[in-house]
Amino acid sequence: MNEMTKVLVVYHSRSGNTARMAAAVAEGAKEGGADVVMKKVEEAALEDLTGADGIVLGAPTYFGTLSAEMKGFIDGSVRVRGRLEDKIGAAFTSSGSPTGGNETTLLSMIQGMLIHGMVIVGDPLETGGHYGAVAVGAPDASALIACRKLGERVARLAKSIASA
Ligand SMILES: Cc1cc2nc3c(=O)[nH]c(=O)nc-3n(C[C@H](O)[C@H](O)[C@H](O)COP(=O)(O)O)c2cc1C
Repeated sequence: MNEMTKVLVVYHSRSGNTARMAAAVAEGAKEGGADVVMKKVEEAALEDLTGADGIVLGAPTYFGTLSAEMKGFIDGSVRVRGRLEDKIGAAFTSSGSPTGGNETTLLSMIQGMLIHGMVIVGDPLETGGHYGAVAVGAPDASALIACRKLGERVARLAKSIASA
């Protein structure tokens, strides 16, 4: 029997907004047929990264970039450098303001994934956030749809890459 495609969702959230987005991403990835593991960044281990076919990172926007907790996790992933190549990646964030740096936050997380040689999923939809899913404060219905769609696409692409 073929092993199921694994998608890992790692998030940091202080006041719950990014956590709600993470749950919607995880839901979408399950709908896309993946076996999903969702972890708070404080609880995620390097083995979670190496064992996944798709990795979705989520952090709140702090001073126009990702929170220090998520940056620390990405920095720590240097120890598995070379072992995340060709995995599918994507990012999501919640910011306080629509122009408070949510896109720079997404791009910072994506940079880390690109440096690992991962393949990044964006979003061509008007409503989704082109560089990944975005919510301003608590995710509204359209942000949650964007999260679910992002999770579903990561699962679908991870499945096709894992079986290629
Ligand atoms: C230390 C700190 C810095 C922040 N900096 C920004 C910022 O630069 N731009 C912005 O739009 N929101 C900023 N915010 C607001 C958070 O991004 C926002 O409240 C977000 O929804 C929090 O997500 P969470 O509920 O997952 O913790 C900041 C919040 C904190 C605590």
